[in-house]
Amino acid sequence: MALIQWNAALSVNIAEIDAQHQRLVAMINELNDAMVQGRGKDVIGKIISGLATYTATHFATEERHLDRHGYPDSAAHKQEHRIFTTKVGEFKQGFDEGRLGLSVSVMNFLGDWLRSHIKGSDMNYSPFLNNKGLK
Ligand SMILES: [Fe+2]
Ligand SMILES: [Fe+2]
Repeated sequence: MALIQWNAALSVNIAEIDAQHQRLVAMINELNDAMVQGRGKDVIGKIISGLATYTATHFATEERHLDRHGYPDSAAHKQEHRIFTTKVGEFKQGFDEGRLGLSVSVMNFLGDWLRSHIKGSDMNYSPFLNNKGLK
């Protein structure tokens, strides 16, 4: 069962960003499924790596748009990205070293963070970027 459901309430009304968010949702669901199915460390490790890499790609895309258009709240937004990137990096390292395992609470943290970041901070830039012509 999917941990996070994509729906219109998560749309920031910018096609490129929505597509990236949908992919992040799919990757977190894939990781959750792998945990539920008790997949091996190699399979789960690869999904975590892919999630870390794609998160960085997504944050870079958003930050490029925010910088280009002079979004006033850009610094705080980037700080949220940085904190999440650090958390995912620490988890990935702990997992790779065998110190940390995937758990319901880790999955809930990832899912809740993504959902609330999209519905909060990402949604806040939506009208600003829409006004700059990004759709
Ligand atoms: Fe985002
Ligand atoms: Fe963001």
